[in-house]
Parts: sequence; structure tokens; C-alpha cells
Amino acid sequence: MTPFDLTGKLALVTGSRRGIGLAIARAYLAAGARVVLNSPDAGRLAPVAAELRALAPPETVLTSAFDVTDESAVEEAVAALTAEHGCPDILVNNAGIQLRGPLTDLPLADWKRVVDVDLTSAFIVGRTVARGMVARGSGKIINICSVQNHLVRPTTAPYAAAKSGLGGLTRSMCAEWARGGLQVNGLAPGYLDTDLNASLVDDPEFTAWITSRTPAGRWGRVEDVTGPAVWLASAASDFVNGQVVYVDGGLTAVI
Ligand SMILES: NC(=O)c1ccc[n+]([C@@H]2O[C@H](COP(=O)([O-])OP(=O)(O)OC[C@H]3O[C@@H](n4cnc5c(N)ncnc54)[C@H](OP(=O)(O)O)[C@@H]3O)[C@@H](O)[C@H]2O)c1
Repeated sequence: MTPFDLTGKLALVTGSRRGIGLAIARAYLAAGARVVLNSPDAGRLAPVAAELRALAPPETVLTSAFDVTDESAVEEAVAALTAEHGCPDILVNNAGIQLRGPLTDLPLADWKRVVDVDLTSAFIVGRTVARGMVARGSGKIINICSVQNHLVRPTTAPYAAAKSGLGGLTRSMCAEWARGGLQVNGLAPGYLDTDLNASLVDDPEFTAWITSRTPAGRWGRVEDVTGPAVWLASAASDFVNGQVVYVDGGLTAVI
């Protein structure tokens, strides 16, 4: 046993069919947790769950397909999960999207979609799961933020606004739920090589800029965030609350 051990914990990770969410789900399994994979599409989730069940005790890999922006679907899914397996001990609000474009031409629908998926979803899923956590008197919530909580660049206004808002929501959740036994923190990755950034990874000019701008001198990998995600889900971080932890190769530390 170490303070980072997650044996016996149930972790719901939204948007865990691929990318950062899947890497965190894998890390939680390795740390001993049972993991609930999520994406909006049950059919596309099934092969990923099967892959993980081949690597871990099969009963430790669960699935729950729902759209994180759909309040009634979230409430139904969390109620079903809680009835069968108990209230999650750990929630990672990870599901997210990015729609880039110049602000003057940005369709309102794109703005609303990004804010819905990247910010409002954390309120919907967080509130729903926190009710059970507060009733039990314990729980860990990790909101996946971004360096864009802090730093911005052109063409990403709705994302930057949503992620900045998620930092504020993280502090508000801490203010309201810490006395109920919850720790709520943000984890803010730098630029990671995932599908979300495919067009940037494939752009040599952007890659040259971001790798020179990042003190670590490289793109981040999904594995870079898994250690901090285990820490924030574990007893090792029991007095860490309301913080946004940057995991960005030093990007936000330098001009
Ligand atoms: N990559 C980075 O550099 C970076 C940096 C900072 C923060 N982040 C944040 O990290 C999180 C994960 O990003 P990623 O890079 O891993 O992106 P990704 O590879 O594009 O994966 C996004 C995941 O979110 C899921 N998702 C999208 N909309 C959803 C919805 N309405 N309901 C449920 N699930 C939904 C997707 O489901 P499907 O697979 O079914 O489509 C997918 O599994 C996001 O919040 C992102 O903003 C990423």
C-alpha cells in the first residue's frame, strides 16, 4: 500500500474512449481502481473496454455511455451506476472538444457547443456525482483544464473561455463541497499529441513554435498527465483542494 494506491476505488472518467481520458483510465486500473469508461456512443466504447479487460481483471472495467451535456442522460446513467456499483469515489471531468476559428466569424452554435461540452458538462456531471459523494462524506473530482485557463492565442476563444470558467468552477466546487469531504482540483495539461490537436501536430510551423515555446522542448504525451491524475485521485492529495495543477513541460512558467 502506498498513499497513491487506488485499490477498491470506483473511478468514472468522462470522454475515456481515447486520448487523455483513456490514458487516465489505464493509469487508474494500474493503481488498483475499478474504472468506468464513458463516451456518447456505446458501440464505439465496447472495443476499448474489451481491450482493457484483456489487460486487467475484467470486472474492473465498466462502461457507461452518455453525452456529458445531456442532463437527463447523465442523471439516469449515474443513478444506474450507483445502484449497481455504488457512487464513484473518483470523477474525472475530461470530455472535451475544440472548435477553432477567428472570433469575428465564429458561429454562435460553435461557441455554445464548446462551452457546453468543456464547461457546462462539468457542472452537470459534477453536481450529479457530488450529491452521492457528499452523502457518503468523501470523493475526488478532477476537472481537466488547460494552459488556456491562463494563456490564450488567436482562434481558440470559446475553448479559452470555457477552460478559464472551469478553473472558477473548480474553486466553487471546492468552496461548497470541501466540508462534505470532497477534494476538487483541476489538472491542466500543456500541448499534448492527441486527436484534439491533430491539425496542429501535423503542422511543422506550429510544432516548431510550440516546442520552442515549451521549456521541455517537446509535445506532451498522454502519459505525462497520468501520474498527476493518480496523485489527485489518491489519499496522497487529501489536503490539496481547489487548485489547478499545470502539467505543461514548463509552458506557463516562462514568457
Ligand atoms: N490534447 C491536449 O493538448 C489538451 C490540453 C489541455 C487540455 N485538454 C483537455 O483534455 C480533455 C481530453 O482531450 P483529448 O486531447 O484527449 O481529446 P480527444 O482525444 O479528442 O478525446 C476527447 C474525448 O472526449 C469525448 N467526448 C467529446 N464530447 C463528448 C460528449 N458530449 N460526451 C461524452 N464524451 C465526449 C470523446 O468521445 P469519442 O471518443 O466517443 O468521440 C473523446 O473520448 C479535453 O477536455 C481537452 O480539452 C487537452
